[in-house]
Amino acid sequence: MPPSTYAEQAIALRVNGQAHALTVGPSATLLQVLRNDLGLNGPKYGCGLGQCGACTVHIDGVAARACVIPAAQVQDRAITTLEGLGSRQRPHPVQSAFISAQAAQCGYCLNGMIMTVAALLAREPQPSPQAVRDALSGNLCRCGAHLEILAAVAQATAAMAAEPANTGAQP
Ligand code: FES
Ligand code: FES
Repeated sequence: MPPSTYAEQAIALRVNGQAHALTVGPSATLLQVLRNDLGLNGPKYGCGLGQCGACTVHIDGVAARACVIPAAQVQDRAITTLEGLGSRQRPHPVQSAFISAQAAQCGYCLNGMIMTVAALLAREPQPSPQAVRDALSGNLCRCGAHLEILAAVAQATAAMAAEPANTGAQP
């Protein structure tokens, strides 16, 4: 009998500060594992091709597209999802700003917008308007909430400058 080309494998992931031991198929993406195995539905499935940004997470603090990353390739990395960015009691300033600015219509793009902006402000606390646009250029919003989203980024930038220690809370 020929060897099977479908071999599940055991992997270990560190998500939002928690360790997880999982068994996944060879083609399982990080997004599939986060949503289907770990029940973390912050990251959204949009295009599945790395082109819309709906699935954005942080890997070692850098924004990354979970739909095109094999789960097995990010073992021993620090993965953060929207759920781990802040808590209900202590939201990340970017989350608070998006709520305050009402920067959403359907909300489907918000995970990607918020995660991308949070990563940007972590590495560049005072980004220029062009830098914000550049960072968000790969995040699609089909509702056209761009002006409100840019207003939210400005609010978050000001809030984080006023209270640099507030970076949300790990759950
Ligand atoms: S779902 Fe990942 S980039 Fe579109
Ligand atoms: S608010 Fe609907 S896709 Fe952005």
